[in-house]
Amino acid sequence: MSVNVERGAVTVVTVDRPEALNALDAETNGALLATARELSAAEDVRVVVLTGGGDTSFVAGADIAAMKDLTAEEARRWSELGQSVMSAIEAAPQPWIAAVNGYALGGGCELALACDLRLAAETAKFGQPEIGLGITPGYGGTQRLARVVGQTWANYLVLTGRHIRADEAFRIGLVTAVYPKGELRTQALKLAADLAAKSPLAMRYCKRALHASLDVDVETGQRIERDLFALCFASADQKEGMAAFLEKRTPEFTGR
Ligand code: COA
Repeated sequence: MSVNVERGAVTVVTVDRPEALNALDAETNGALLATARELSAAEDVRVVVLTGGGDTSFVAGADIAAMKDLTAEEARRWSELGQSVMSAIEAAPQPWIAAVNGYALGGGCELALACDLRLAAETAKFGQPEIGLGITPGYGGTQRLARVVGQTWANYLVLTGRHIRADEAFRIGLVTAVYPKGELRTQALKLAADLAAKSPLAMRYCKRALHASLDVDVETGQRIERDLFALCFASADQKEGMAAFLEKRTPEFTGR
């Protein structure tokens, strides 16, 4: 299988085609889509960590060998499948953390962008090199990149096709932290454990409100926030969270 899943409250998903630097072919995208959908429906899964198999790559892009002879109509479907993967991850009720352990190029950068949080190894490289292949990004890069790093850097990355290092990715806000390669997994799991201890219900609502902020005007966004805030007060998690604070103990959230 090109996608491995280590299932738990913190689930680790590994794109695992190291012989092709974890490039996304149709089978891998199909497996990722099925995985994202399955994990989204699993109440016991609180956080997902996404990483790449092998030593050098997170995901080195869509599979160029598999793409090169596509017709325009096949290319549209190829893009649609990849975009569905990214949208399924983005819409997941749980947070997804990208642990970028190497090349995150093209579809790999887009995959990281679909996640809620991104951490990188010092050796990671980011880029949208499609322009050099005579194509545009096709898995949401032209849309999500500017939302994350702003138009200036999105233009730079998409129009030049250049790679940037992990420290530059940190500087432009593409990742929240950079770690020595050997520490990345431990740090990603530590962050995941922190998130897993929070209210899954409030987590889901926060994700929904944060995503809405990118698509709607402030007034509409505030209405969405207000409604979700109110809904929290119908939950056991809100009662537990506030009681635990006042009783000076650690809350135990159930997602109810
Ligand atoms: N699609 C298909 N195969 C890929 C791939 C991709 N996106 N990226 C790497 N591979 C394959 C290579 O063809 C090579 O296969 P081979 O051993 O059968 O020849 C293998 O993975 C190793 O890659 P290689 O290029 O030899 O490694 P490198 O360390 O010299 O370079 C990269 C690493 C990531 C810089 C380089 O592989 C690269 O530029 N990949 C394409 C990145 C890209 O343009 N992605 C966007 C696609 S839309």
